[in-house]
Amino acid sequence: MESLATLYGNHRGKVSQRWESYLTVLDRTLGERRHDPVRLLEIGVQNGGSLEVWASYLPEARVLVGTDIDPRCGALTFTDPRIRLVVGDVTDPAVQQQVADHADRFDVIIDDGSHRSSDIIDTFVALYPLLEDGGVYVIEDLHCSYYASYGGGLFTQRSALGFLRRLVDVVNHDHWGLERTAGQHLQPLVDQPLPPSFIDALPTIASVAFHDSMGVIRRDHGPRPRLGNRIVAGDVAAVDTGPLTEAGRPLVGEPQLESADNVDPLAHETELRQLREERARLVHREKELTQELGEVWRRLERTLASPSYRLMNGPRRIFRALFRRGVSGSS
Ligand SMILES: C[S@@+](CC[C@H](N)C(=O)[O-])C[C@H]1O[C@@H](n2cnc3c(N)ncnc32)[C@H](O)[C@@H]1O
Repeated sequence: MESLATLYGNHRGKVSQRWESYLTVLDRTLGERRHDPVRLLEIGVQNGGSLEVWASYLPEARVLVGTDIDPRCGALTFTDPRIRLVVGDVTDPAVQQQVADHADRFDVIIDDGSHRSSDIIDTFVALYPLLEDGGVYVIEDLHCSYYASYGGGLFTQRSALGFLRRLVDVVNHDHWGLERTAGQHLQPLVDQPLPPSFIDALPTIASVAFHDSMGVIRRDHGPRPRLGNRIVAGDVAAVDTGPLTEAGRPLVGEPQLESADNVDPLAHETELRQLREERARLVHREKELTQELGEVWRRLERTLASPSYRLMNGPRRIFRALFRRGVSGSS
């Protein structure tokens, strides 16, 4: 069978663009599913060429859904009836519902959309629960995770790569030795509360692999003991008999202290961000009130300087004198 690189090399018609090394990684990642009746979702299809390539690459695919925010994609037509297009912003729940109308579960999801960190994270939170057991979720162009213009930076924890690094922790959740849930670990990177559908699916994340600019997240084939028991082969332990006594047993982890090494730096960052936002709001309000006060003073000055006010100066003086007399007379 032709490799993905060969299919790309021979493809004519609608354009598709991809970095060279992605073809190798995608081939290795999806190769084992080439003859399966998979359901594929690609976020960001632009000219639509990739959907045609996927149709050749996955001849037994049941459905190949593409989404794109560009309304011009609405004019794209395809001869292969397995190809479906949803035009709209994939981070919009209404668009996600339209995607789910084509297949309630997907075996392959490829995010080649906006490449903005917040979009990548929000999309993963919304769509990972739709990934079938044994499925794979690919995120392309993660180099944008280092660009400030895409909401990234080398040391930014709230980037797409920062999120995926925390997903690696989630895969190893059993070993933290702390009273901390996987959801609590990811929540500081997401503005909205994580939905139960995502939190419930977190234990199914089997692996997170990193390639140049690409992330590949695999979903487990089904419920499984995480690490399993220790398998010990052989019966001659001439150096250390320890392994023989541990045979067939699960790992006994080490409880950890809530020490400085186990404090989430983002917890403070989130608090700091909220305080900064509140400060900006108060500074803005102070400016508004100063302007309003200035306007009140100007109106007062205009009133005091007006001929009608000055005309009443005499009667006002008489009235005040009478009033004072009245007050002292009554005491
Ligand atoms: C790099 S191109 C995709 C290339 C395509 N995969 C190919 O093989 O040629 C990125 C596409 O993502 C689309 N996009 C950007 N933000 C999006 C969003 N929030 N939802 C859906 N599509 C989006 C853009 O309109 C653009 O067409």
